[in-house]
Amino acid sequence: MLECSDLTLAYGKHVALDGVSLRVDAGEMVAILGANGAGKSSLLGAIGGRVRPRAGQVRLDGADLLDMPDHARVGRGIALVPEGRGIFPGLSVADNLALGANPAHARAGADARRAEVLALFPRLAERQAQLAGTMSGGEQQMVAIGRALMSAPRLLLLDEPSLGLAPIVVQEVFAALARIRRTGLTILIVEQNARATLALADRAYLLEAGRITGSGPAETLRTDPAVVRAFLGGAAVAGE
Ligand SMILES: Nc1ncnc2c1ncn2[C@@H]1O[C@H](COP(=O)(O)OP(=O)(O)OP(=O)(O)O)[C@@H](O)[C@H]1O
Ligand SMILES: [Mg+2]
Repeated sequence: MLECSDLTLAYGKHVALDGVSLRVDAGEMVAILGANGAGKSSLLGAIGGRVRPRAGQVRLDGADLLDMPDHARVGRGIALVPEGRGIFPGLSVADNLALGANPAHARAGADARRAEVLALFPRLAERQAQLAGTMSGGEQQMVAIGRALMSAPRLLLLDEPSLGLAPIVVQEVFAALARIRRTGLTILIVEQNARATLALADRAYLLEAGRITGSGPAETLRTDPAVVRAFLGGAAVAGE
């Protein structure tokens, strides 16, 4: 479904992505693991159209995304939940969700999708009139994910959805991601919470200093000694 080839991206002289190639098949959940500054957000931003790579290609179902204007990209069904969420703090939860359904292709089924989103996040159903900016960090993340789902995406890009959340809230967010995944939606997720992410994803890529240094089934990576050392903080636990 999604194919990135040889993506190179630089901010001035700083090369953030250096020949990154990856693919995500329809219905897959794929994770990108990497340390701070590895280029994870840059990669999602390049796919989501926030930053323009210097070279390389991003294709969705064979069509080149880099030559498409933003609205066309959204029309193709790509939704990015950016790092830091990017919700509208001064608008209510209901209005934030409604704005998600703005793309032309998303308007028709908006009511049904709102019902799905509120079923997925019951807490949002209770708080529809609350200003999004007054919600807790975890609740704001739910608003951000809910808004992205309102755009009827075919590919959901998630940039560190668990960042800065308390462990109990992290669990809640991952439980919601598991439910979203079961709907068959294709997901590309960036996370520092490698353990929980590898438990959920089909495959993962390792990104170090702008380069892909490894990839494989999540199941295999979970017990790979180098991955355990770099991302899972310590010794591999058999059968975990
Ligand atoms: N707008 C920018 N201008 C200059 N340098 C940038 C810009 N955005 C990112 N960078 C640099 O590019 C590199 C990759 O940044 P990026 O945000 O993609 O990393 P990341 O893997 O998402 O990190 P984190 O885990 O901290 O979110 C970093 O060294 C960062 O300082
Ligand atoms: Mg980042």
